[in-house]
Order: sequence, then C-alpha cells, then structure tokens
Amino acid sequence: APSDPDLVERAARAKAALGDRVFVLGHHYQRDEVIQFADVTGDSFKLAREAAARPAAEYIVFCGVHFMAESADILTSDRQRVVLPDLAAGCSMADMAALVQVEKAWDRFTELGIAGEVVPVTYMNSSADIKGFVGRNDGVVCTSSNAETALRWSFEQGTKVFFLPDQHLGRNTAVLKLGLELSDCVLYDPHKPNGGLTDEQLRAAKMILWRGHCSVHGRFTLDSVDDVRERVPGVNVLVHPECRHEVVTAADHVGSTEYIIKTIEAAPAGTAWAVGTELNLVRRLALAHPDKQIMFLDRNVCYCSTMNRIDLPHLVWALEELVAGRVPNEIVVDADTAHYARVALDRMLALP
Ligand code: 13P
Ligand code: SF4
Repeated sequence: APSDPDLVERAARAKAALGDRVFVLGHHYQRDEVIQFADVTGDSFKLAREAAARPAAEYIVFCGVHFMAESADILTSDRQRVVLPDLAAGCSMADMAALVQVEKAWDRFTELGIAGEVVPVTYMNSSADIKGFVGRNDGVVCTSSNAETALRWSFEQGTKVFFLPDQHLGRNTAVLKLGLELSDCVLYDPHKPNGGLTDEQLRAAKMILWRGHCSVHGRFTLDSVDDVRERVPGVNVLVHPECRHEVVTAADHVGSTEYIIKTIEAAPAGTAWAVGTELNLVRRLALAHPDKQIMFLDRNVCYCSTMNRIDLPHLVWALEELVAGRVPNEIVVDADTAHYARVALDRMLALP
C-alpha cells in the first residue's frame, strides 16, 4: 500500500529539522515506506560499520532489529545515541540463545575437559550478551558474508567450534565451504538435558551447533526448490545461508543479502531467478530489475514479522521525539558487555 502522505511529510519535516544530527540506517529487509527515509541501506554488518563511520551524528535511528542496534551502540562512541523505533523489533533467532543457556553448555565442555579446544563463534544475529561471552572466551563474531573466513581462523585456534545461534549457517559453512562431513557436526539443544548429546558425541564432534534457526529462512524446503524448477525451467535458485542444508545444497548460488543483491545486479537480462530470502528485499529487487524475471522462492513464506514492526508511524514518532529533545527507545549496552563484545567484533574486523 502507498505510504500515508501526511506521515511521509511529517517524517521528511522531522528529518530536515534534525539535519546532520540524525543518521537513519535501513536494513535490506525493511518496508519500502521506511527505506525511503534511510540515509544508507545494507546488511547488518555494513550498517554497524556505517554507524561507526558517522561520528558527527548525535542520533543513529536504526531501522532494523534489536541485535543490530546493539551492535551499532557497541561500535559507536558513547556520545552517540542509538534509537530503535519499536523495541518489539527483535529477532527470533537471536532470542534462541540466552546467556545462561550458553554458559551452561560451556560448563559442560569444561567438566568434560574439552573447553580448551573449543572456539566459540557467534553469528552477528545474537544478543550483545552472547557476543560478550564469545569475546571473553577467545572467540569471534561472523556474518553471513565472512563465516567461511571466521571458521578457518577458528580451526587454527582450536580443534572444535561451538557455533551460535544459527545451526544452518554453521552447518552450511562447515560442510559446503570447509569440506567437513555432516557427521562432524552435532546439534546442542538447550532444552534437552545435557544438550541432548553424550560425552562421546561431544568429544568426537568438530562443529557443535546451537539449535537455533531463522523463522523466515527456515521455512524454505526442498519442495520449494523442486516446485520452482518445475514451474520455471532454467530458473537460477539463489538463497541465503540461513536456509536449511538440503535447500542450500539444492540451490545454484548461496550468499548474504549483499551477495544476493550483487548477483541479481550482475545477472544478464532475460534470466530467471528464484530468491530464497525475506520478501521486502525480493520484491524491491524484482521492481528494480524489470528486464529479469525475479520471483520469491516460495510463495508461502512471508515477511520477517519483527523487521516489519518498524513502520512509518514508528519512524515518525521516533524522529518527532528527537526534534522535541527527547531520546525514545534508546539502546544502551552495559560497559562490561560492550567491552568484550567489541573484542569479538574487532577480531572479526581483523580477519583477512
Ligand atoms: P544479513 O547479515 O545478510 O543482513 O542478514 C541478517 C538477517 O537477519 C538475515 O536474516
Ligand atoms: Fe532474525 Fe530471520 Fe528476521 Fe533475520 S529474517 S531478523 S534472522 S528472524
């Protein structure tokens, strides 16, 4: 639906009144009505870096989800205030790993005598607490674009990797990029006694995967791929590595949101693409490339509901509050957590 013209005008007016004091970041999965006000768009990693590269902006309005705003707060100066227009914009995957659960798993590794060989790696899509845990325990953060490099680095530091919280990104990278066997990977389920794993399984494993997944990408199935190949002969299947292993294996190309965008931009006119990622992004890609046939990998998979919580009314409210001298929905990571999370983020930034 087109944006409410009154709200569009109010957002534009508030943004103009704030001038350079505000910088608006928009993740690729955000709604069109929000993206039109973003000073820069990107994946979660690019946006965190963009925030850090804007020291003049007093306020960073983060149109994305909670863990992204936390990363922006960690990477920006204390003077800069990060605003999330709706505090209910979380990420179901990040919420699947709580610090107490992760510490419990680590205690088990310590009791077993394997903790010294285990390198914790967390996907960007995790809370600041989890990044802090990883920083304290000599591990690293990764994103969907550098997971392979991060895993290679980790296997130089130890013999096992404890991968949080996305089992699919962990498994897909280990098996398809590093050449590990599926049987080298075990799944740690925080809701089962002992994670659902025996001591022998933990001793033998190379990849200990946390049982987390994305509620959007996890819905694509092998049937989604088979159906689109049947309907559209010659179609190229392009998916995000948060998809299940069998989906990624059956696809033609796999990569982060930035990779997906670049691949579509570089594709010859007349080619057909079925894209397995969030709907707002796929729809915008289709509109921007009318010379190519771009479709959603599975018509039954929907938007990321938490990304979609940031809508124009919330953005207008946040901007108008800033104009009025108040800072709404500020995201602040405590100093100790931020310090160690930054250690893990800086290790990632230093990867080759
Ligand atoms: P990106 O790191 O590719 O932006 O992915 C973030 C995300 O939430 C994917 O579901
Ligand atoms: Fe989280 Fe998935 Fe939404 Fe990304 S698409 S923010 S991983 S729930």
